[in-house]
Amino acid sequence: MTSATRTQVGIIGGGPSGLLLSQLLQLRGIDTVVLERRSRDYVLGRIRAGVLEHGFAELMREAQVGERMDREGQIHEGVYIAYDGRRERIDLHALTGKTVMVYGQTELTRDLYEGRDRLGGKVIHEAEDVRPQDLNSSHPYITYRDGSGPHRIDCDYVVGCDGFHGVSRQSIPKDKIQTFEKIFPFGWLGVLSRTPPVSSELIYANHERGFALCSLRSATLSRYYIQVPLSDTVQEWSDELFFEELKRRLPEEVASSMVTGVSIEKSIAPLRSFAVEPMRYGNLFLAGDAAHIVPPTGAKGLNTAASDIYYLYHALVDHYARGNDRGLESYSSRALARVWKGQRFSWWMTKLLHRFPDDSPYDRRLQQTELAYLFSSERALASLAENYVGLPF
Ligand code: PHB
Repeated sequence: MTSATRTQVGIIGGGPSGLLLSQLLQLRGIDTVVLERRSRDYVLGRIRAGVLEHGFAELMREAQVGERMDREGQIHEGVYIAYDGRRERIDLHALTGKTVMVYGQTELTRDLYEGRDRLGGKVIHEAEDVRPQDLNSSHPYITYRDGSGPHRIDCDYVVGCDGFHGVSRQSIPKDKIQTFEKIFPFGWLGVLSRTPPVSSELIYANHERGFALCSLRSATLSRYYIQVPLSDTVQEWSDELFFEELKRRLPEEVASSMVTGVSIEKSIAPLRSFAVEPMRYGNLFLAGDAAHIVPPTGAKGLNTAASDIYYLYHALVDHYARGNDRGLESYSSRALARVWKGQRFSWWMTKLLHRFPDDSPYDRRLQQTELAYLFSSERALASLAENYVGLPF
C-alpha cells in the first residue's frame, strides 16, 4: 500500500539549494519535505565549492545557519591573478566595497542539515525512484520508495534541486525546454591536502603549461587545482607529480614557499557550461545545477544556485503570505537574467586563464592583451571584481 502525505512545497534534492530553501520557507511557516536519493554521509562526503558571495552569506544568516560560517569562515578582500611570472592582486573590497567568504560547501551543507534537524524539518534520505508527477496540473505529487515501501507526497509546488543528473529536469517534456551547452576541452584535477595554504588569498594562474588555482579551506587545509587533458586519470597523478606540476605553473616566489603534502581527496572534474530555459514547467521550478552548470573558474556555481533560491524563496513567501503570484510568474525570467550573467563571467574567466588546445597564436595574443588591459584599467578590474563578489540579486 502506498502511504500518502501532504506538504506545501515538495523539494527534490538534499544538497545546499534544497536544504537552504526548506530552511528559509519553514522559518516563514511554509511546510516542505526534502527528498534525497543518497545518504547524509554521502552528501557530506563531497568536496565542492569554497567561495561564497556576500549575498549568499547573508542568506545563510537569514536562514539562521550562519553562526559557524561567521566564526570559522574567512572573509577575503582580494584575489590574485598570476601570469607571465608575476602576481597581481585584485582588491575586491576597494573596488566594490564588498568581500567574499571562504567556507567549504561541505561545511555549509553540514550547517544546513543541523538547521533542519533543529527545526524538525523533514528530510528523507535514500529515497529511491523519486518521480515528480502531474506537474502541469494544480495537484502535482511526488512518488518514491524507501525500505518501508512506496510513498506519495501531494504538493502545491515541486522544486527540483537535484543537480545536473537529477530526475527533475528530465521530467520536463523535451519540446518544452531549450538547452544551451558548451563543453570545454579539458578538466580540473583537484587536490585537498592538510597543509598550510601557500597564500592567504586565492591565486588564479595563467601559465603556458595550463591553468592552476591555489585555494584553501582553513589555515591548515589547502585546495589546489590544475588544468589537465580530459584523457588524464587520477591514477596517473601521484601527489608528488601533482605538486611538481602545480609549482611549475606558479610564479617562483609562490612555488618556493609551497608546503606540499599528502592528498586527502583527489578528483578530476570536466568543465561544462549548460543552461535550460525556462526554469519552470507547470508547477515544477528548477533551481541550481538542475537548471544550469558553469565551469568553476569564477566560483559562480553554488552562488548562482543561491540566487535561484533567493528568488524562489521570496516568490513562495509572496504566494503563501500575500496571495501574490507575481514572483512565481516571473521566477524563471528573473533567475535566468542572473544565471546568464554568471554564465558570461564564468566563460570569460575560463577563457582568460586556460590553455585551449586549439588556440592559434592569434588567440594567444588576444589572451595576453586581455590580461594586459585588465591590469591597466581600473574599470576593467572593477568589472571583474563586481562579478566576483556577486552581482545584486
Ligand atoms: C575552491 O576552493 O574549491 C574553489 C575556489 C575558487 C574557484 C573554484 C574552486 O573559482
